[in-house]
Amino acid sequence: MAPSTSSAVTLNINGEKYPLSVDHRTTLLDALRERLDLTGTKKGCDQGQCGACTVLVDGRRAVSCLQLAVAADGREITTIEGMAEGGRLHPVQQAFLDLDGFQCGYCTPGQICSAAAVIEEHAAGWPSAVTGDLRPEAEPPPLTPEEIRERMSGNLCRCGAYVSIVQAVARAAGERARTAETEEEAA
Ligand code: FES
Ligand code: FES
Repeated sequence: MAPSTSSAVTLNINGEKYPLSVDHRTTLLDALRERLDLTGTKKGCDQGQCGACTVLVDGRRAVSCLQLAVAADGREITTIEGMAEGGRLHPVQQAFLDLDGFQCGYCTPGQICSAAAVIEEHAAGWPSAVTGDLRPEAEPPPLTPEEIRERMSGNLCRCGAYVSIVQAVARAAGERARTAETEEEAA
């Protein structure tokens, strides 16, 4: 008997379970767009270089064009369609809107997913390639424009909306920090 070239998986996307039979070669990006009509996630280069297809897998950034759908079985996937909560835009989405962090919008879903994860990575104290002091006892670096540009460098924007993107990420990060402080004080 010839070996099977497809498998049954359950993709857990934005809190919903999607049982699916997928060819083993199907990328997560193609499963989202072609099989599940979740077309918010964009295909740019299809080879891991532009970031347009960025989604969150178990809370961490992943370029979905380089991830096989079978490898995403059972993981928690968040796409741009799942960023808003309870009818309210995610603070990163709101900041992109308010500060014009886009032009044509093609790279925007990937930018927003990436930015949401960048803010959490930074809040968790993860350094970047431009973080100066890497000693374990060092204070976490402030999320300067230089830090944001480095951390978002995997997301390209053909329209060159970078200035506004950096401002939007900074604003959303500031909001997150203030919310965390308020929650700490109230606890
Ligand atoms: S489409 Fe995935 S990185 Fe460009
Ligand atoms: S807004 Fe057009 S590619 Fe970024």
